[in-house]
Amino acid sequence: MAAATELTVGQVATRSGVAISALHFYEARGLIRSHRTSGNQRRYGRDVLRRVAIIRIAQEVGISLAEIGAALESLPEGRTPTREDWNLLSTAWRDQLDQKIAQLKKLRDGLTDCIGCGCMSIDKCPLRNKEDRLSAQGPGARRLLVAR
Ligand code: FES
Repeated sequence: MAAATELTVGQVATRSGVAISALHFYEARGLIRSHRTSGNQRRYGRDVLRRVAIIRIAQEVGISLAEIGAALESLPEGRTPTREDWNLLSTAWRDQLDQKIAQLKKLRDGLTDCIGCGCMSIDKCPLRNKEDRLSAQGPGARRLLVAR
């Protein structure tokens, strides 16, 4: 028996391991697409399985749904993302992840200085005023001046 060219939402859920409610959510966000049968039931092309896999992997590493949507939008309509597509997407996301990791390391190091301190000092606390960024806004008590 030949494989069906289209899948019901239940089949997509079973094959992808993703809840039907999540599939509906992805569809509402424009990440996957279906069409309606004459009986008003959703049908998905088989490419949806690969799209869902990409969405899940990207979410797993912290890529936002908006970013995932923009990346998938860049693929030609209805085409199953190829290995090459995946290479391009994952390379761009890796660079983004590297930046996030660097930011988180800085944050962790700042937190290490704060553990057991509790001063919350604008002058000394690296988390409260990272790299003294408030000084770039001018002299004086910047937070008090801005609040007025
Ligand atoms: S709380 Fe004291 S340095 Fe951050």
